[in-house]
Amino acid sequence: MSRLIINAVLLLIVQEIYFVATATDQETCESDREMEKKCRIHNYKTVKPLLDYFRQVRNELEDKEIKENKLNELSSDLMKKYHEIVRIHEKFIKEAALLDEYKNKLLKGENDLQLCKNRVYKFESETNLQQNVIVKLKGEIAEKSTKLENCEIQYKNLNSSLFEKDENIKRLSENIQNNTEHQKTLEVQLEKSKTKLIKQDKDIQLCQSEIDTLNKTLLNTLIPTSCSPYGDSEVHPLNVSGIGFFDVLCDSQLAGPGWIVIQQRVGGNEDFNRDWATYRKGFGSYKSDFFMGLEKIHRITSLQRHELYIHLVAVNGSTYNARYDDFKISDEDSGYKLSLGKFSGTIIKDAMRYAKNTKFSTFDSENDTHLTYNCADYYKSGWWYKSCYNCNLNALYGPNLNWWGNDYITIKEAKMLIRPKEAIKK
Ligand SMILES: *[C@@H]1O[C@H](CO)[C@@H](O)[C@H](O)[C@H]1NC(C)=O
Ligand SMILES: *[C@@H]1O[C@H](CO)[C@@H](O)[C@H](O)[C@H]1NC(C)=O
Ligand SMILES: *[C@@H]1O[C@H](CO)[C@@H](O)[C@H](O)[C@H]1NC(C)=O
Ligand SMILES: *[C@@H]1O[C@H](CO)[C@@H](O)[C@H](O)[C@H]1NC(C)=O
Ligand SMILES: *[C@@H]1O[C@H](CO)[C@@H](O)[C@H](O)[C@H]1NC(C)=O
Ligand SMILES: *[C@@H]1O[C@H](CO)[C@@H](O)[C@H](O)[C@H]1NC(C)=O
Repeated sequence: MSRLIINAVLLLIVQEIYFVATATDQETCESDREMEKKCRIHNYKTVKPLLDYFRQVRNELEDKEIKENKLNELSSDLMKKYHEIVRIHEKFIKEAALLDEYKNKLLKGENDLQLCKNRVYKFESETNLQQNVIVKLKGEIAEKSTKLENCEIQYKNLNSSLFEKDENIKRLSENIQNNTEHQKTLEVQLEKSKTKLIKQDKDIQLCQSEIDTLNKTLLNTLIPTSCSPYGDSEVHPLNVSGIGFFDVLCDSQLAGPGWIVIQQRVGGNEDFNRDWATYRKGFGSYKSDFFMGLEKIHRITSLQRHELYIHLVAVNGSTYNARYDDFKISDEDSGYKLSLGKFSGTIIKDAMRYAKNTKFSTFDSENDTHLTYNCADYYKSGWWYKSCYNCNLNALYGPNLNWWGNDYITIKEAKMLIRPKEAIKK
């Protein structure tokens, strides 16, 4: 500002000087042209440098003024821009504040969201718990309802059976009434019948005594010592001296009529590993496997000459027979020794021959000729063992139940039949 004032003062001074110079020139040199010329030259010579100087100064000043103006312009421009910046800054601060506010709102929103989520989680877990409880309750309800159903069914059954029983009772009580009436008529009939019966009893007694006398004479004469008179395949009594009456299984199918079956293996589960006393007496069932008993065989075959017929079924299904025309066994004291007579039959080899004149052996009565062991014990059966056998029809089912031919024939069924020799001739 002071510079501006100085400039203005300087300008004023320069202007004053200039006016003075020119004014003098006009007053002094106006009348005289000559003088004027001289004056002019003189003035010019003195003032010129000063004027130049002032001109220079004025130019400079003008230049400065221009610059000053420009500067002012620029500074006002700057001011404007400064204000604008300030405005922008203020706006910016305002917006930042707004942004902060938004941020806070956002944070609050996030917190709220987290809270909400937590509540949702809590709610979910509670719901799960409640669902489990519901499922449990449902299961219990189902169980109880099935129990209830069962109960109902039982109740219905009981009720219906009760009802049935009531009906029955009604029916029965009706029947009782009916029956008591019936009974009376029946009693009358009974009385009649009784008198009839008494009469009949007397008749029967008479008849029975007649039958008994007949039976006695019949028994004495007709009960046979062999199956020959029966001629069928049933169980019948025999009367054999030394034993008396006993039942035998007859066979009239395998080899003609009238055979006594003394031994049978048809796949039963009878134990053939028996002691001496049992083999002596006999064992098993006529319906399945059995051995008739050594004493009976001895007694029967002692009465008269007997033949033996052996029927065999091999494991592969082939059937064979072997016949001996003079079969008997000795008494117990001589060991039920075996006699056979002549062999014939469809089987290739006479394997029984090996046991001819051999005593019977059981595990508790060893009469075999084996040097080292007890054949009956070893082969778990009683038989006419020597050292030990070529055939054993009492052996355990399996490879030991066999008949020695050119090869061993393993047997699944065996029967030994006897009948009096003269029966064939008749
Ligand atoms: C019991 O059974 C009888 C006969 O079937 C029926 O009439 C009655 O209504 C039943 N009672 C019930 C309680 O079911
Ligand atoms: C009584 O008994 C008789 C003979 O058994 C029979 O025919 C009749 O139907 C019965 N009556 C009743 C009501 O049971
Ligand atoms: C005949 O006598 C025998 C032996 O005493 C007896 O077992 C049988 O039952 C009698 N038969 C009849 C028909 O009385
Ligand atoms: C049975 O046989 C014997 C002799 O073998 C005989 O004495 C007896 O009379 C026969 N009959 C009866 C019923 O014993
Ligand atoms: C059973 O085997 C014997 C030889 O061991 C044989 O001769 C026979 O033909 C066979 N039978 C059958 C039905 O296969
Ligand atoms: C058979 O053997 C037994 C002993 O093992 C013996 O007591 C019995 O006398 C013998 N029998 C004969 C006839 O030799």
